[in-house]
Amino acid sequence: MTDNDRMMNKTIRTLALLAGAALCAACAQHRPSTVGTTPEVEQRVERILAQMTLAEKVGQMNQVSAGGDPSQYAEALRAGQIGSILNEVDPVRINEFQRIAVEESRLGIPLLVGRDVIHGFHTVFPIPLGLAATFDPALVEEGARVAALEATAQGVRWTFSPMLDIARDPRWGRIAEGSGEDTWLDARMGEAMVRGYQGTQWDATSMAACIKHFVGYGAAEGGRDYNSTFLTERELRNVYLPPFEAAVRAGAMTLMTSFNDNDGIPSTANTFTLKQVLRDEWGFDGLVVTDWNSMGEMISHGYGADRKEVARQAIGAGVDMDMMTFGFLSHLEELVQSGAVKESAIDAAVRNILRVKVLLGLFEHPYVDAAAAQAVQYAPEHLAAAQRTAEESVVLLRNEGDLLPLDPARVRTILVTGPMADAPHDQLGTWAFDGQKQHTVTPLAALRERFPGRVVYVPGLGHSREHRARFDDVVAAARRADVVLAFLGEEAILSGEAHSLADLNLQGSQSELLAALKAAGKPVVATVMAGRPLTIERDLPNCGALLYAFHPGTMGGPALTNLIFGDAVPSGKTPVTFLRTVGQVPMYYNHHMTGRPYNGELLLGDIAPEAGQTSLGNTSYYLDYGAYPLFPFGYGLSYTRFAYSDVALDKAVYATDGTLRVSFTLANTGSRDATEVAQVYVRDLVGSLTRPVKELKHFERVALKAGESRRVEVEIPVSELAFFGADGTRKVEPGDFQLWVAGDSASGEPVSFQVQ
Ligand code: BGC
Repeated sequence: MTDNDRMMNKTIRTLALLAGAALCAACAQHRPSTVGTTPEVEQRVERILAQMTLAEKVGQMNQVSAGGDPSQYAEALRAGQIGSILNEVDPVRINEFQRIAVEESRLGIPLLVGRDVIHGFHTVFPIPLGLAATFDPALVEEGARVAALEATAQGVRWTFSPMLDIARDPRWGRIAEGSGEDTWLDARMGEAMVRGYQGTQWDATSMAACIKHFVGYGAAEGGRDYNSTFLTERELRNVYLPPFEAAVRAGAMTLMTSFNDNDGIPSTANTFTLKQVLRDEWGFDGLVVTDWNSMGEMISHGYGADRKEVARQAIGAGVDMDMMTFGFLSHLEELVQSGAVKESAIDAAVRNILRVKVLLGLFEHPYVDAAAAQAVQYAPEHLAAAQRTAEESVVLLRNEGDLLPLDPARVRTILVTGPMADAPHDQLGTWAFDGQKQHTVTPLAALRERFPGRVVYVPGLGHSREHRARFDDVVAAARRADVVLAFLGEEAILSGEAHSLADLNLQGSQSELLAALKAAGKPVVATVMAGRPLTIERDLPNCGALLYAFHPGTMGGPALTNLIFGDAVPSGKTPVTFLRTVGQVPMYYNHHMTGRPYNGELLLGDIAPEAGQTSLGNTSYYLDYGAYPLFPFGYGLSYTRFAYSDVALDKAVYATDGTLRVSFTLANTGSRDATEVAQVYVRDLVGSLTRPVKELKHFERVALKAGESRRVEVEIPVSELAFFGADGTRKVEPGDFQLWVAGDSASGEPVSFQVQ
């Protein structure tokens, strides 16, 4: 920064203070703060900063995993060497950590206490992929609020969530932690979670959100975690960055850099994404933290020779806080003293950290009421919200002959089987550190409570990976039962960080178990609980109905029981494409049109042409598996039927700053009240770049009584059609478009319109 810039900054800041408007502190442009700072907050930050030594500033930039006895860290806390801790959740110990920082360090700066509160704290909600399957941002926001209420009661004021990584590869174990493959859905879910965690006003229940992992991490080559990505600027700007931008606009306080290197540059040192895009273009004035040792991992990447060098690279890219590399703590002071790093860069980082602490009210209220914290956990209304969310998150993928819902009067004896029927830890899913399995209600427990004396439980398999040759005991029990409820899937440990898979079939002998059950001749209802979309094509013929529950959390059992017996009606939709076989990866609905597109009928579960059949040889498909997935994005059945008709637009031609008014008639033609997720997709027919065949631009949950039909109207700003085009700017390109309104991404008839 030149002296002129500095003068300019100072003038702008003074003017803003005078005008009473808060400026983005991270950039020289006159624009509002993304985290909602105020002139008073900024003055306070400046006052604290002015008193700090260089060592104290660097200490604020150091985050430590510090569980257990706080006295172990007393010396470092007193010396002001720790700005934040993660992984302590005990309120008494958190208070003690804070006491040492506040009362025994020179400046008394409170700690920011972080934790991975990913889909609930004690009350565990469905994994984020399940949250996305609800297509219900309001419900997701409510869940995030519940998580914040429980976590902040114990002193956790910062969660490392939401994960906004677009994932188009179900081999990647962390697909469980995000909203799936779609940019628009991901953005809506991200905003909802940010609002829920942080609350609508700053108070003691506000938990700072951390949007992660910035950026591209979900595109790990081969689906192997931590792997390199090779995303172009266009792909970043059109697919991977928009959810982050939306969450920044929603006020996200913090952001985490990712582990991957993109096109050769580790994210923690990427000045393009962290400085140009995040700070300069979006004006983000929140806090940027590294992922766990992601600064140190730049040495393994071969991007820096030692910790000193990677610390310099990270601060140079605009990282504010170091999670667990200790690179800042060990080297920043000497880097400043040698002139390799300017103290102004340190000041900028510390401002971003202090701003969050001040906004959270930590200086006024560093302590929690430890005695009261317990009462908040697993509150009945939290469990009710978790159950409702689990119900909405389940996707009905098959229902032959309307087997579901079951009539309780007609099924006297219910066989419950399968490795996930009574797996209280595993149904919580990945990243459920604080969910206690003794509070989980499994399907078996819920069914036994609902149907005392009528449930027979024969597990069949102890865990999902077990191999077994014969299932005589289960089959004999199935013959005696009126219905078989098989709970299959994968344990929590098979998805999440560092848990990628190359084989996405049901593990162990689960498919054989299902086939044996089918052979017993009784109706079979399968429920799959998993962290990813598994390749279940071979299992579909072996069950009459199949419910797909992305690990549903604490209240999964009652939610599934309600769905199976018709007290709740499925409304979940797939937030990610379900593949027929792992060899189809990556296959996602919003791919670009090739020069030789497959021109067959769009059929679900497309039947592969015979090997050797060449009539379609010029098209983009597999000889053995055809062109289509098992279930497309946005798909999900109901216990009723929905019919879409008369899709219309209010105009034929729109201005680039106009609004599309889309109307359609949605009819519930069945005999049950139900909710449909109506989806609006758009295609830009000719662009300065080739464009996706379809892109989700809106969705709407529409509740309809049995037999009811309604004219639904939605508005879509034409600006939603903008993309980062060949000239390197983001804008709506005039021309011809098509629009679909349908119950999934593969249905509906297009309506044409133009933008001029
Ligand atoms: C993960 C992050 C997480 C952090 C702290 C890392 O290994 O990648 O998502 O927030 O650990 O637990």
